Amino acid sequence: MKVLASLCLALLTLALAAEPARALLADRHKANGMGCADCHGEGPRQPVETDKCLSCHESWEALAKRTAKNKMNPHDNHVVNANGECNQCHHAHRPSEVVCAQCHQDLPFKL
Ligand code: HEC
Ligand code: HEC
Ligand code: HEC
Ligand code: HEC
Repeated sequence: MKVLASLCLALLTLALAAEPARALLADRHKANGMGCADCHGEGPRQPVETDKCLSCHESWEALAKRTAKNKMNPHDNHVVNANGECNQCHHAHRPSEVVCAQCHQDLPFKL
């Protein structure tokens, strides 16, 4: 019985560990052929501003179109329309998070 219990525990631990962690955003850009300088420029590495992201990703409107299938749109809503910043949700070197979750449950999207 004790053996069975620890086997179950081992399997559960394995299952949890198997939850696929998404690659970090900087690595996903790297996989698309971009390097550090594409976001940071050549100088000392500073946090990257929204304008820099938009120099490639065009506009909030264009992004909203890409995520329009969602019941709530992460790029078109009462939080980002006023004064949105990409880094409210997207982080390059640590896992991203969805700021909406502070107030809304059961969001129709994740990062
Ligand atoms: C997709 C754009 C992007 C790419 C590519 C990228 N970074 Fe970043 N980097 C950021 C953003 C945004 C931040 C701000 C912190 C965060 O979001 O994790 C940052 C923060 C940093 C910081 C800390 C700066 C500070 O003052 O807090 C360093 C150092 C850094 N990046 C180095 C690198 C290196 C080295 C590479 C290449 C291997 C790289 N970055 C690639 C976007 C990027
Ligand atoms: C040098 C151009 C460039 C810059 C600067 C850039 N990106 Fe990207 N990004 C791309 C390209 C190209 C792709 C892959 C094609 C696509 O999804 O648009 C991409 C993909 C993404 C994706 C989708 C990744 C995936 O695998 O689903 C996100 C999210 C993203 N970028 C956010 C950001 C954010 C936030 C910043 C600013 C910190 C940023 N990007 C800066 C060019 C850029
Ligand atoms: C409120 C949180 C939030 C903010 C702020 C935000 N995003 Fe996103 N973004 C998301 C979420 C959530 C997804 C995944 C949506 C999905 O799976 O349909 C996403 C997906 C993306 C994608 C991939 C779209 C695709 O075709 O799958 C790109 C590119 C992107 N974001 C870029 C940006 C850039 C650039 C900014 C700043 C101008 C930004 N985002 C600001 C939450 C956000
Ligand atoms: C600080 C708390 C807070 C945050 C963070 C927040 N919301 Fe809200 N949201 C509210 C409140 C309060 C309402 C109005 C009451 C209601 O309709 O439930 C609302 C209403 C809404 C509505 C329905 C009304 C409308 O404007 O269409 C949508 C959709 C929505 N939020 C999406 C989002 C998304 C997407 C995010 C993340 C980018 C987000 N919210 C972040 C508090 C928040």
